[in-house]
Amino acid sequence: MFARKWILLTSIFLVIGIFLLSYFIKGISTDPKMLIRLEPKNLSLVNLGEIVYQNNCSSCHGSNLEGQKNWKERDADGYMPAPPHDQTGHTWHHNDQYLFNITKYGIEKSLQLNYPNNMPIYEDVLTDIEILASLSYIKSKWPEKIQKIHDEMNSN
Ligand code: HEC
Repeated sequence: MFARKWILLTSIFLVIGIFLLSYFIKGISTDPKMLIRLEPKNLSLVNLGEIVYQNNCSSCHGSNLEGQKNWKERDADGYMPAPPHDQTGHTWHHNDQYLFNITKYGIEKSLQLNYPNNMPIYEDVLTDIEILASLSYIKSKWPEKIQKIHDEMNSN
């Protein structure tokens, strides 16, 4: 009788434990206030990011992050072309959270703007880690000096 009771109690605690743990983990990964930090020195993340970037972003932003031709002028359909992600573009003028939100939710939703554009929304395409990885890869390609300026922008 005594042993049975303990088995029952232990099972109940285990179930509650697993429930709390899964809630906690889910809470972390879906918390909109999750702290977004690019990690250009994290080699495994950057390597994953290179694959994600080449498969999902390079067709528009260029395989060397060079962007599309005449990216500062609207195209024949009136849309802005994809800007470069290297130091000649303005990606590094924006903080981590902004870049993450643009990539995950698109420009209109993340900036609450009515602004038709050709940047896709990756919310249902890439995981948060894959988005973070692609942006970390981009940052790893900037000169050290630009990376430092960008670090400072994020510490505010
Ligand atoms: C179909 C083409 C296309 C693909 C693929 C694409 N983008 Fe874009 N992206 C654009 C265009 C076009 C803009 C500029 C939109 C505008 O300003 O009107 C843009 C803008 C951005 C910006 C804002 C840059 C800034 O300085 O304001 C970020 C960040 C970005 N893209 C990240 C990504 C990432 C990361 C990927 C891959 C996961 C990706 N994009 C894939 C077309 C694309």
